[in-house]
Amino acid sequence: MVQDMKDEILSAAARRDLFLSPEALEILDSNDYPMEFVNTALNALAKDAMFVTKEQVIDFLGGDGRVMEPLKAEPPKNGRRPDIEIVPGSDITGHSTCEGKMADFIAYFRSRYGMLKKIICSKKGFSAPVPIERIGNFGHPVNIVGMVYEVRTTKAGHLVVTVEDDTGTCPVFVNKDGPLIDETFVTDEVIGITGEKAARGDLFYAEAIYRPDIPQKRAWVPSDSSASVAFISDIHVGSREFLKPQWEKMISWMRTNHEKENIGYIILPGDVVDGIGAYPDQEKDLEIMDIYEQYDTLKEYLKELPDSIPVVLHPGNHDACRLAEPQPALSEKFAKGFDSNILMVGNPINVRIEGRLVESYHGKSIDDWISGVRQLTYEDPLATMRAMAERRHLAPMYGQRNALAPEKKDYLVMEEVPDIFVTGHVHGAGYMEYRGVRMINASTWQAQTDYQKMHNFNPNPGIMPLVNLGTGRVSMKNFVG
Ligand SMILES: [Fe+2]
Ligand SMILES: [Fe+2]
Repeated sequence: MVQDMKDEILSAAARRDLFLSPEALEILDSNDYPMEFVNTALNALAKDAMFVTKEQVIDFLGGDGRVMEPLKAEPPKNGRRPDIEIVPGSDITGHSTCEGKMADFIAYFRSRYGMLKKIICSKKGFSAPVPIERIGNFGHPVNIVGMVYEVRTTKAGHLVVTVEDDTGTCPVFVNKDGPLIDETFVTDEVIGITGEKAARGDLFYAEAIYRPDIPQKRAWVPSDSSASVAFISDIHVGSREFLKPQWEKMISWMRTNHEKENIGYIILPGDVVDGIGAYPDQEKDLEIMDIYEQYDTLKEYLKELPDSIPVVLHPGNHDACRLAEPQPALSEKFAKGFDSNILMVGNPINVRIEGRLVESYHGKSIDDWISGVRQLTYEDPLATMRAMAERRHLAPMYGQRNALAPEKKDYLVMEEVPDIFVTGHVHGAGYMEYRGVRMINASTWQAQTDYQKMHNFNPNPGIMPLVNLGTGRVSMKNFVG
């Protein structure tokens, strides 16, 4: 147990590219500080140095009582301590290595392929895939795992899906009269295929397709947690269409009811401010024209939330952050001055709360899914989230509108099956259950803008989804009307 806390502190430091001296680690570990406090301390220490000494930690502890205050000042009345951690390895913050070189792209796609192949190979009925260069005419079906490079329809209406691995490419034939013709293939997804190579030519005749997907029998197993996690997405502070009355209604509800309703955690899945220059002529829609002022205003709004609730905040495409995904946490110049109960992390992020895994992703790739897959629409973002879950990838399509940064590891792979999967971005509000996973699109606090009206985009604002961590019950708290 003691070792766990030490590991946790060390990985939190590593995420910030900080090296702790053994004594510095000892002090942070031995005082039974909540992890949120340790994170706050590390954020402050990361400003000054890469190596942290005992003296620096003591200085921080002695000199910055104000930062410590909120967590000490208001322990939850039921005596419950927050149980929340950022899953190690899920946050790009401090770990970005990509320079856009060819080697980066190779490493990136290898990482994606490797992680997804491992999941596919764990599926019942699929094992021991053959490298593409070694596929021969064996006279019996074999398994291969490939990344979809291209999909085309032949004149006769069959599909040819070209897949590749790091040994070669292979044209996979999907017969128009067979059961697989209804499958949707997207570029750069990784699939397993059982099939047989034709006696002549290169075609590999598909008999079955295996997607990494969520295991079929997975279910939500109830626990004795009684707390709920709330999602407040796409706040868009700074926009003329920011719904201040509804926001205030939500804050006042939160202040009055958070203990009764046991709201233990809050996640803000991106677009926390409206930003500057996010789309053409955005100035016309802005009430606050300065990005720093937008974050300052948000800071004040969030101070109204009860101090005892840890808040996880990650960026979206409107935030002051690199656009390419994965996005690191807001940099210090925007993040400074926020209350210490606010954890600034990257997008996407995996957070473990009272044993439940929450995967939060802003959802910019939904634009690409919708333009690339005929059946998907803005009216039903949950169908897109299901398509992501089936492929265990948040944004497989490379080179579309949503930019992907070729990091050494593909952070957009859904490596572990989440209990709760949340997106924002499309300003819809809804939830569904897919194989035990609570999938949520978490609304917005911005009314329809002229730009959205022009694009026939109808938001569903002012709704706060809540998930009970014990029962898995989802409720949508509506603050409009
Ligand atoms: Fe948004
Ligand atoms: Fe967005």
